[in-house]
Amino acid sequence: MNLDETAGPAVNGLPANVAIIMDGNGRWAQRRGLPRSAGHLAGVNRLREIVRTAAELGLESLTVFAFSTENWRRPDYEVEVLMRLFRRFVVREVDELDRMRARVRFIGQRDRLPADLRRTMAQMELRTAGNDGLLLQVAVSYGARAEMLDAVRRMAVEVAEGRLDPDKIDEATVSQNLWTAGVTDPDLVIRTSGEMRISNFLLWQSAYAEYAFVEECWPDFTPERFREVLESFAARERRFGAVSAAV
Ligand code: IPE
Ligand code: IPE
Ligand code: MG
Repeated sequence: MNLDETAGPAVNGLPANVAIIMDGNGRWAQRRGLPRSAGHLAGVNRLREIVRTAAELGLESLTVFAFSTENWRRPDYEVEVLMRLFRRFVVREVDELDRMRARVRFIGQRDRLPADLRRTMAQMELRTAGNDGLLLQVAVSYGARAEMLDAVRRMAVEVAEGRLDPDKIDEATVSQNLWTAGVTDPDLVIRTSGEMRISNFLLWQSAYAEYAFVEECWPDFTPERFREVLESFAARERRFGAVSAAV
């Protein structure tokens, strides 16, 4: 697969496949003299709006980074708050997501999540599996290196069992073994809160993504601002290593 084939078609000049690192909930709260948990709550409310906007704009996929493999290092209390909010999101949003014909998929280390939460997630995926609208990928206990390690192990097992010829392993084989298998690579990755780093998000998939680093903390990232960022993408020229005229 050539890198330029991984770029999704643009919808009205907007990127079709967008990923967001939803960062800055804690700082948003602290600046208001509130506990970090208040920032996470505001963040969930913001996510609901941004998902709706993405569906209205006709995006093909939206991948959101909700909790990283490294976020397990946070204090127990904060992890508990995040898990509680996440559980509530899954329970409360299923009807609305189904109504907007969104298909939901979770990527990450499921085995680290509580069993009841895993069941609720599986129910949401099943219920929305047949929908033809926005594909919403929620990355929970997600880390790109863990994802790649998992893919390497899986391919190694297939090789050891004689089901995979090492010479036949190509980029598509790797893509198919990632948790994001079958989903088009992001055209644009947005990170809120002014931090300019990737923090272990979609390392393989975003090889040729455009990046937008915005100053607003996630709870302040309004649908209007989201649209602006998407529109600014339309003005960029993606060359995929070629020269202008060849694109
Ligand atoms: C993003 O906000 C949410 C998660 C990482 C779970 P943060 O909690 O990282 O907020 P800041 O970056 O500390 O402000
Ligand atoms: C990245 O944010 C992970 C999520 C948004 C879920 P972090 O706040 O965890 O990243 P660092 O620690 O600033 O790199
Ligand atoms: Mg952060």
